[in-house]
Amino acid sequence: MPQPQPDAVAADRLTIHNLLRRDLSASFKEDVRAGLTARPKKLFPKYFYDELGSQLFEAICLLPEYYLTRAENEILARYADEIVSAVEGQNVTLLEMGSGSASKTRRIIEALIRRQNDLLYTPIDISASALETSSRVLLQSYPELRIEAYASDYVAGLNALKTQDRPCRTLALFLGSNIGNFDAAEAVEFLRAVRGVLRAGDALLLGADLKKNPQALEEAYDDALGVTAAFNLNQLARINRELDADFNPRAFRHHASYNEETGRVEVYIISLRNQMVRVPALELELRFDEGERIHTENSYKYDLEGLTNLAEETGFERARTWMDARKQFSSNLFLATGER
Ligand code: TRP
Repeated sequence: MPQPQPDAVAADRLTIHNLLRRDLSASFKEDVRAGLTARPKKLFPKYFYDELGSQLFEAICLLPEYYLTRAENEILARYADEIVSAVEGQNVTLLEMGSGSASKTRRIIEALIRRQNDLLYTPIDISASALETSSRVLLQSYPELRIEAYASDYVAGLNALKTQDRPCRTLALFLGSNIGNFDAAEAVEFLRAVRGVLRAGDALLLGADLKKNPQALEEAYDDALGVTAAFNLNQLARINRELDADFNPRAFRHHASYNEETGRVEVYIISLRNQMVRVPALELELRFDEGERIHTENSYKYDLEGLTNLAEETGFERARTWMDARKQFSSNLFLATGER
């Protein structure tokens, strides 16, 4: 007799839609080509999160310097019931963009399950492996839960949701400092897309890291153990793995600095010497000068005024904001208003 699989119990409560087109590798290729032939050179943040990158990011979240995750966890542990009660409606469905390991989501799931008998959770994440693992873990913890997951980038995931009819209230989550990785125009575009799948009265819980002294910010993005450096340099290793390139990650270093004028931490990979790198899958030979930088990420920091404006520009109102005791991080309840 075949043994019943432990996962089989949960299988009827889990659907994973994989929208990562098989030619994801084609878009990866084209984006790497575009980024590394641009001047100045750049790479795109969404490609941080392959399997190794997703795990390195989980490790970042445990670092003493990376206060963001702990601060947000503190807020959610303390205020989840209050947050959930600020959303009106009998039955709420939960949507999350960039769910990752979904460990912070547990506080919200538990608060919702205290108020209603069952819960539909719809996570969207670019990492199919993170999505699969986190979904199975959640389903084992919560028998009341059903999961309809999308392995997808945000745009395709939100588009797929638009065609779905969700009768109940939706609480959407965009946690961590994900909003910070968009510049002003991109943040507006993204929030309008989120607003597009919501109805008036639905809500978005938006995590936003707050402006603070540059040293604390720079250490959060350049930790003593070098985990963030590994996370950043993994982009080069990924290009080696997937496009057969010959980057020597030891010939590059990680750099992060806070730009007070623009209010963002800028993250770069810097070439330690003059060197050539071959990317056979792209038929490219790239030259790097000593000291030349590849821009890999911005992480914008917010203040409350900026968050109010962002809400108003995108069809929301910033109804409530919660902070950790040290006021390092904010969780903002954006209520979808009448106009889109
Ligand atoms: N969304 C995270 C943030 O902006 C991502 C992140 C953390 C990150 N550390 C990083 C991205 C270092 C690039 C490099 O906080």
